Amino acid sequence: MLKRFTVSMEENLLDDFDGFIKAHLYKSRSEALRDLIRGRIIEKEWQEDKDVMGVISLVYDHHQHKLQEKVTELQHDFHSQIISTTHVHMDHHNCLEVIIVRGKAGEVRGLAKSLKAMRGVRNASLSMSSTGKDLH
Ligand code: NI
Repeated sequence: MLKRFTVSMEENLLDDFDGFIKAHLYKSRSEALRDLIRGRIIEKEWQEDKDVMGVISLVYDHHQHKLQEKVTELQHDFHSQIISTTHVHMDHHNCLEVIIVRGKAGEVRGLAKSLKAMRGVRNASLSMSSTGKDLH
């Protein structure tokens, strides 16, 4: 159920907030505020090593010696945290892998870091999300 409350803030801060709303294409202050609060909750879940979900994406050159094997081996070490992996052959050299993960924030971060540090991995990023149980 939606509840209403009144927020007071300085005019300059409200101007900045309205600028943020416009830049991010929000239709209302309420939706923007809800998203900011959810974003903060997700941040807290990751800081406190809670159960989280996320997406790791990486681009690597599969010609790099044994890299494909190492990437697969590492993912088997984290089989409890990995829900799904999708592999796309981008061109002659490059592969894109998208790995959907769920587990303790520290474990998921550890997997992302280990992948990123591998020689031949050209780009890796971790998108941090929530299991949703604390998001409303
Ligand atoms: Ni490939």
